[in-house]
Parts: sequence; structure tokens; C-alpha cells
Amino acid sequence: MALEQPDMEVSIGSLRLKNPVMTASGTFGYGEEYGSLVSLHRLGAIIVKGISLFPRQGNPPPRIAETACGMLNAIGLENVGLERFLAEKLPFLHNIDTPLIVNILGDTVEDYQQLAARLDGEEKVAALEVNISCPNVKKGGVAFGTDPDMAHAVTKGVRQHFSRPVIVKLSPNVTDITEIARAVEDAGANAVSLINTVLGMAIDTESCRPRLANLFGGLSGPAIKPIALRMVWQVAGCVSIPIIGIGGITTPEDAIEFLLAGACAVQVGTTNFINPKATEEIIHGIGAYLSENGLASVQDLIGRARQT
Ligand SMILES: Cc1cc2nc3c(=O)[nH]c(=O)nc-3n(C[C@H](O)[C@H](O)[C@H](O)COP(=O)(O)O)c2cc1C
Repeated sequence: MALEQPDMEVSIGSLRLKNPVMTASGTFGYGEEYGSLVSLHRLGAIIVKGISLFPRQGNPPPRIAETACGMLNAIGLENVGLERFLAEKLPFLHNIDTPLIVNILGDTVEDYQQLAARLDGEEKVAALEVNISCPNVKKGGVAFGTDPDMAHAVTKGVRQHFSRPVIVKLSPNVTDITEIARAVEDAGANAVSLINTVLGMAIDTESCRPRLANLFGGLSGPAIKPIALRMVWQVAGCVSIPIIGIGGITTPEDAIEFLLAGACAVQVGTTNFINPKATEEIIHGIGAYLSENGLASVQDLIGRARQT
């Protein structure tokens, strides 16, 4: 018999979410931009655009290119910087009854530590998501997220300066993502989110020039979903902290696949640009799926495809 109202709650460490659906960083502005389109209080959590210590202008245009079943972006982490975020963006988010997760980025471990310490003083910030797909300027520009030692160092640095949950966002641009996942778990991460964008490029056959001024960009959207799902499956097999699945989620079924693979929550990214109501539709669709299948709780889905 179909159950009326399944339990949609999930926990990420000490953080309780009313449902497992969040917005992916960089695809939902600072929340306010979508306020007239989405019932923000319905979301599991809002993750805002990545914040650095100081404002960033990002890369020169063109910095977006459409691809088959996805898009390439080379925005270059443009953002208003920590102080303007606190002064101009946070007040709006204070009034929304949904946990706020701030995505942070830096050039050095010290940058991340300073961001963590400052954001720890803001009660509305329920958790941090640490973007480690950024170049470490002290290590010749190698991305933090591609080296287990650097990923460990940045996670430990943030952990020491922030008292609430720390989620580390993993890069797919590595040979073995499980090695990085284990390193950040060992450094004290409360959860991992994956995946960030996949490095790619496109060339315009009319101008015979690369489409992005930056040459390379991050591929996102449905094209990367099978890669993301495979990586979530692998990471779920090697860490015991919660996993948040990200990559090409467009429909409730996509989100359910990630839950079945072992994620306890998901993030919706590129789809927001095509269908701003996607998050709400996915929340509704997961609930309907649970009811139709006689399942009492979203917990019944997590890792179900792994059971033998
Ligand atoms: C335009 C754009 C900007 C993004 N900015 C950020 C960012 O600031 N920080 C971050 O960690 N990820 C950023 N991402 C990555 C997304 O959060 C997400 O991990 C990725 O797009 C894969 O999910 P999707 O296929 O659902 O978009 C960005 C993605 C896009 C498309």
C-alpha cells in the first residue's frame, strides 16, 4: 500500500536537512537571484557561489560554451569576495528557513583557514563546502584536489577553524578519486561532495579557434552523470562519512540513482539554468517515488543498489 508522507529528512554530520536536495555552487547565484522562481524554504540546503577572501573578476570572455548534453564553463571563480558577501548577500539568506552552506576557495591553505575562521562567526552558515579544485599558488599551481597531501592539508586547516560540518568537494580530474576521498576523511572532513566539473575544451570550426578564451573549461550537465555516478559508487565503497552526489542531475530519477549508489544527498547544478524549478520538482519526485514504492523514508534508498 502506498504511504502518504514519506520521511525525507537526511543528516550530514550534525546538520539536519528537511530533504536531500541542494543547489550546486555557482549555478544558483547567492540564492536571492532565484527567490522569485523557487520556494527557497523548500530546499534541503542552499549552497552559494564560491567565495574567496577578496573579490575575483574571473576569466576573460568567452567563458561559456554549449556542448552535447552539457556545457563548458571557464568563469574562473568570479565572486564578490568575503566582505561583500557578508554585508550584501548574507542578510537576504538570514530570512530563509533553509540551511545555508558556503562554498569557499583559496590560493593557499592560509586563505582557506582565514575564510573558515571568519565564517565560523556567522551563525547562519550551517556548513562549509570546500572547493579543492583550485590551484595552490605555493605549489606551482597544482590543484589542491589532485594531490592527497595537499587535499589533506587544506581540509585539516579548515577543520581547525570551523566548528560546524565541513564538506570537501572533490575534483573528478584525478586518476583515483578514492585516494583523495580517504585523505580528506582522514583530515577530519564530515562529508564529501562529488563531482566538480570535468576538464574539457571545444573548438569553433569557423574561426578555427578554441571556443573559450581560457582554452579549457569545466564540463557539466547530463553528459557527466555516468562519470559522477561511478565516482560516487567508488567513494561510497571506501569512506564512512556521508557523500553528496553531484553531476548532471536533471530529473528525480537521476537523483534517486545517486542515492541508490550510496549518496545521502544530492546537488542540482547546470539544470537550474534550463529549468529554475528543477530542485523543487526533484524533491517532489523523490517523495512520489518513495510513496509509490511503499518506502517510509529516503533512508531506505541510500546505498540500496549496493546490497547483495
Ligand atoms: C557556471 C558554473 C559555475 C560553477 N561555479 C562553482 C563554484 O564557484 N564552486 C564550486 O565548487 N563549483 C562550481 N561549479 C561546479 C558545480 O557546482 C557542479 O559541481 C558541477 O557543475 C557538476 O554538476 P552539474 O552537472 O549538475 O552542473 C560551477 C559550475 C558551473 C556550471
